[in-house]
Amino acid sequence: MSPRHFLTLKDLSSAELKQLLSRASELKKIHREGALYEPLKNRVLGMIFEKSSTRTRVSFESGMAQFGGHALFLSSRDTQLGRGEPVEDSARVISSMVDAVMIRTFEHSLVETFAQYSSVPVINALTDDYHPCQLLADMQTYQEHRGSIEGKKVVWVGDGNNMCNSYINAASLLDFQLVIACPKGYEPNPELVAEHQDRVTVLHDAKDAAKGADLIVTDVFASMGQEDEQEQRLKDFDGFQVNTDLMSLANKDALFMHCLPAHRGEEVSAEVLDHPDSVVWDEAENRLHAQKALLEFLLCN
Ligand code: CP
Ligand code: NVA
Repeated sequence: MSPRHFLTLKDLSSAELKQLLSRASELKKIHREGALYEPLKNRVLGMIFEKSSTRTRVSFESGMAQFGGHALFLSSRDTQLGRGEPVEDSARVISSMVDAVMIRTFEHSLVETFAQYSSVPVINALTDDYHPCQLLADMQTYQEHRGSIEGKKVVWVGDGNNMCNSYINAASLLDFQLVIACPKGYEPNPELVAEHQDRVTVLHDAKDAAKGADLIVTDVFASMGQEDEQEQRLKDFDGFQVNTDLMSLANKDALFMHCLPAHRGEEVSAEVLDHPDSVVWDEAENRLHAQKALLEFLLCN
């Protein structure tokens, strides 16, 4: 039987996602109480990184250690993957020695190919197209602060990137309205938008979008791999900064999120990022708890 993978949020049913989010909050409580819970004793997670990371690496590595297991950091700079060993071969070899594999890379097709040849679960830890692990943490954070997100208005401001695509999937699974405000030419995957047109609206004016929002989310204008476009994007994204003016259009109890790392003064003002309505530090911490729930789901069921 082929293993269960987590390449996009759509690899979970709506019921599974909701159960996983509740479990993440339970695991957070267990961790805070200092209780020993080691369901992954002697199990190993291989972590392949072809892009930089702080939160993803620290949360997966700490989560595995807290679960009694081990995490193996595999940088493409130091493995044969980085020297051209085929993904298919690497997948067969690595998966024969570990219990799960986490991959952060550029092309989404690489994680799909890896998963096809892997004998153990594969987790997408960010590709150019999706960042589903971040959405687990974001949705857990919203739920912990405000309860169910069902029926709420979520506004994505900025680039129609990997995070934005994952928000579209979350809107479909958790039944919220997603309004995306991006400059022309920076829209998210059009097929994904078309598939979810009942829940997703794309606008080109941040102020129109922000009205009545329950949650405003943004991300960097230039993602990893787009460093050369930074200057052009700064010009193109003029008017798409989340600042106090924009937040004032949202509902009174609206939250602000950002997957981090953030650039104060570019996509978000320092005032908004450091304001009490900003839950970015909880959001970052929840990467740990949400991914522990994911590992437990994939490896202990
Ligand atoms: N949000 C996020 O994935 O952070 P890192 O790039 O630091 O892992
Ligand atoms: N969109 C960003 C997210 C970083 C966590 C990137 O891909 O670089």
